[in-house]
Amino acid sequence: MKTVEVKLPGDSYRIHIGSGLLEQTGQRLNEIGISGRLIIITNPVVNELYGRSLEQSLVRGGFQVTVLEVPDGEEYKSLDMAGKLYQQLSDAYAERATPVLALGGGVIGDLAGFVAATYQRGIPLVQVPTTLLAQVDSSIGGKVAVNHGHLKNNVGAFYQPLMVITDTNTLKTLPGKEFSNGMAEVIKSAVIRDSDFFAFIEENLDNIKSLDDDALEEVVFRSAGIKAEVVEKDEKEAGLRSILNYGHTIGHGIETASDFEIAHGQAVAIGMLAAGRISHRMGILERDELDRLQTVIDRTGLPTSLPKLNTNIIIEVMGHDKKISQGKLRFVLPRRIGEVFITDEVSPDLVERVLVDWHEET
Ligand SMILES: NC(=O)c1ccc[n+]([C@@H]2O[C@H](COP(=O)([O-])OP(=O)(O)OC[C@H]3O[C@@H](n4cnc5c(N)ncnc54)[C@H](O)[C@@H]3O)[C@@H](O)[C@H]2O)c1
Ligand SMILES: [Zn+2]
Repeated sequence: MKTVEVKLPGDSYRIHIGSGLLEQTGQRLNEIGISGRLIIITNPVVNELYGRSLEQSLVRGGFQVTVLEVPDGEEYKSLDMAGKLYQQLSDAYAERATPVLALGGGVIGDLAGFVAATYQRGIPLVQVPTTLLAQVDSSIGGKVAVNHGHLKNNVGAFYQPLMVITDTNTLKTLPGKEFSNGMAEVIKSAVIRDSDFFAFIEENLDNIKSLDDDALEEVVFRSAGIKAEVVEKDEKEAGLRSILNYGHTIGHGIETASDFEIAHGQAVAIGMLAAGRISHRMGILERDELDRLQTVIDRTGLPTSLPKLNTNIIIEVMGHDKKISQGKLRFVLPRRIGEVFITDEVSPDLVERVLVDWHEET
């Protein structure tokens, strides 16, 4: 088992990472002084797979457990569902000190986290992420939210958990597509901050893909550590934290232009390559670094070519994106593997030229 400490002013907590940790949840929570009543929020898919062993561990730790299920799907990350959960919490006599435990992927983590942040002005939250994306990204950093209107994560808060318990064994039941989605964020974290970790991925990708215990533990530990470090330095996204958006500016345009046919991780993979191409075109990123990135993305099973989408829509979406700063496109570009920089110097024209050239290549 490995542990990442997230040190925030007044809000420090630990992320425990390893295989089989679900069975230790009760004991781990007892260790930080939590006992008594506890509410699990999960969905039917994850509950069926892991609800029982989690509950048994909590009962061994002396907890009285109530399980609340939310249907599976992004569309349930809504204010409407939050409202239903408030009612169910109240029916279960949840009080200010009653913790909510989020068991599931990013959808459950964001929704249950939002509910915990707002019910009675905030009740304790424990994250038990079960997708790779949730383990390396959404469970860390305290952003909780629901979607509202047509906008994603439009209503939310910064709300840190008491603890994150990350059982890498849960990744063994994850559909392959969800795994590669999470790998896009893993690759992202290496490119923005840690060239040694990128080399580790290059060397161990086969073991990672075959879900070897040690390889998974290392990958989740190092990615989680990078996210934690960035969040520690900039909890409320005043500056540095925006480097986590690497690959996400064009990625978001691609997701939207494809009508969300292209999944988030796939779009981020294409976005990371696009940002790499822009940087190369600006004379900054070396060709062989771009090739290394492309090779790792390809070996992971993520796309490396630009899908036939309307380039204008991609660029227009980017213009409406929150990552824009005073009318200019704000980009996170790789300087080399392991280091990125933030720039306002990328014009929509340059983006278009790079995308059009990329289209012609493929
Ligand atoms: N808060 C943040 O900082 C942050 C960061 C990135 C993404 N997000 C949010 O995360 C969400 C996406 O999260 P996600 O990719 O985990 O999707 P998800 O939560 O929808 O999970 C994907 C699918 O996997 C299933 N699943 C979960 N764990 C499983 C397991 N162990 N075995 C088998 N199936 C399992 C789920 O039921 C679901 O069908 C989005 O809503 C996004 O906005 C939040
Ligand atoms: Zn992402």
